[in-house]
Amino acid sequence: MILICIALFLMPFGAWADDRLVRLAVPQELVQSGLFKHILPRFTLKTRVKVDLVDPGDAAEAVLGTQGRPAFDGLGSAWALDILAPDHPGTQTFAEWLHSDVGLRTVVSFAPDGATPFGPPTQQKAEVVVAEMSGDALLGHEVSLRQCTRCHAVDLATRGKGIGSTPSFGVLRSLDDWEERFSAFYVLKPHGAFTIITDLTPPFPEDRPPPIVPIELSLDELDAVLAYVAAMPAADLGAPLEHQ
Ligand code: HEC
Repeated sequence: MILICIALFLMPFGAWADDRLVRLAVPQELVQSGLFKHILPRFTLKTRVKVDLVDPGDAAEAVLGTQGRPAFDGLGSAWALDILAPDHPGTQTFAEWLHSDVGLRTVVSFAPDGATPFGPPTQQKAEVVVAEMSGDALLGHEVSLRQCTRCHAVDLATRGKGIGSTPSFGVLRSLDDWEERFSAFYVLKPHGAFTIITDLTPPFPEDRPPPIVPIELSLDELDAVLAYVAAMPAADLGAPLEHQ
């Protein structure tokens, strides 16, 4: 009985705190702009919801990146809010606020040194970036999203998805020998056990089927992935490469 009383007494407080604490994953460049020092105190004052900034890839209720609902533009990018925990009350409050007139005005009113680096969202920007890629690179992007995001962050939008310890494509792209690694990825650990390149690698041995859902790529698709990776900016989008 006493235990139940204690539990009932403690629970609402724990729930209250969690409900009103939002972990927001934000890339460093956005943190360094100082924007959050401007908007978050104002948001918290108004709503009594607190936002903790975490690194992309860490556990979070929402991600500010290139995927989701457009929020604002700035620093050469279109920023969007991707909600990972739609039922979380604090996150709902933050999303509503960020997309409201008041929220947007707070973002736009951030004026370090008299300049306003952020403005209202224009949705076309992400497409402009994609349009600069060749047809192959577009196919490569699509193939990578389909086949590789299970484990890798492939682009800004999939940052924080995949498996935390797996290097992102951005990190791999920043290595001098990225081209060798991608050209031969299907024989490099761990892919060999579950990857087939049509017309290139033998089928899986019948007595040793792939332990997980396999990857099957044609040579054209592999080339397309290389074209996509070649065109992408080398950037820190996820976990560093640990085992080299
Ligand atoms: C089931 C999970 C999984 C999938 C799916 C996957 N990878 Fe990987 N990949 C990994 C892991 C784990 C590593 C890190 C290996 C290491 O650090 O030793 C890795 C590393 C790599 C590397 C660096 C290899 C090296 O040794 O330098 C490349 C390139 C790569 N992956 C490309 C791809 C491509 C392209 C796809 C999709 C067609 C893909 N991966 C799909 C798990 C995966």
